[in-house]
Amino acid sequence: MKKTIKYIKSKINVAPEIGIVLGSGLGNFADNIEDRIEISYKDIPNFPVSTVSGHDGKLIFGKINGKDIVAMKGRIHFYEGYDMKDVVFPIKVLAEIGIKYLIITNAAGGVNMDFSAGDLMLITDHINITGRSPLIGPNDDSEGPRFLDMTNCYDNELIAMADDVSSKMGLKLQKGVYMYFTGPNYETAAEIRMARVLGADAVGMSTVPEVIVARHRGIKVLGISTITNMGTGVLDKPLDHSEVVQVGQEVSHKFSKLLTDIVGVM
Ligand code: HPA
Repeated sequence: MKKTIKYIKSKINVAPEIGIVLGSGLGNFADNIEDRIEISYKDIPNFPVSTVSGHDGKLIFGKINGKDIVAMKGRIHFYEGYDMKDVVFPIKVLAEIGIKYLIITNAAGGVNMDFSAGDLMLITDHINITGRSPLIGPNDDSEGPRFLDMTNCYDNELIAMADDVSSKMGLKLQKGVYMYFTGPNYETAAEIRMARVLGADAVGMSTVPEVIVARHRGIKVLGISTITNMGTGVLDKPLDHSEVVQVGQEVSHKFSKLLTDIVGVM
C-alpha cells in the first residue's frame, strides 16, 4: 500500500474528497472530467487489473462541476478469480488518499416488477447473499472496527440529495435494495424469484464488497444502479451481456448528467 500511495501522490497534487466508481458504460462521464490526470491501473504498484472487456482500468483525477474528484474507470470483480482483498484494494487506496464520499455505480438486473430496462435506481440498502465479506481476516483497528455497524450504509442524506437533484432534472429515479451475487453466470429464474421474496429490487455482481470497505473506513456512500435488463425469467428471453452493455451505454448520457449535478451540490 505504501508504494501504491507514494506512486499516486507523485502524479497528483490534489486531495479530492469525492471518489466515484464508474460501472461499465459510464465512459462519457469520464470524458467530461476537466483538468484531468489519468493513471493506468497497470502502472500503479500493487493495483489489480481487470480482465473484463468494457472495463479498461484507470484512475482519473480532475474536476466535475468545479469539484475535485477521483474516478475509477473500471473495477475488479470477485468473479474474475481475484481474492476479496484485491477487489477492495482500490477502495482502500481511495481511503488513504482521503476521500470522504464514495459514489459507486453499477449495472444491475431488475427484480422489482415495476422496474424496466433503462431505469436508474438509488441503492437504499443491500443483501449480501454470497456470505463473503472483505472484512474476513485480521482487523486493523486503526482502519475501522472489527464488528462494523451497517446502519445507514447507503447514506440517507446523500439519497435525499440525489432525489432532489433528479427531481430538479425531471428525471425519475427508482429506489431499492441491491442483492449481491458473485456471478459470473447470471442468476437462475428461481434465484430471481428468491431475491424478490427476500426483499431485493435488483441483482448484480459488484459494489457490495467495495461498499463494506468504504463504510469500514467511515466513508459516506451513495450507490446508483443502471437497470440494464430485467432479471432472468421476468421477460420471455435469455440474457445477453452485449445487450446489458448496450442499455448501459444508452442511459449513460442521463446518468452522466445526474452524476455531474450530484457532484455539484456535494
Ligand atoms: N444479474 C446480475 N448482474 C447483472 C445483471 C443481472 O441480471 N444485469 C447487469 N448486471
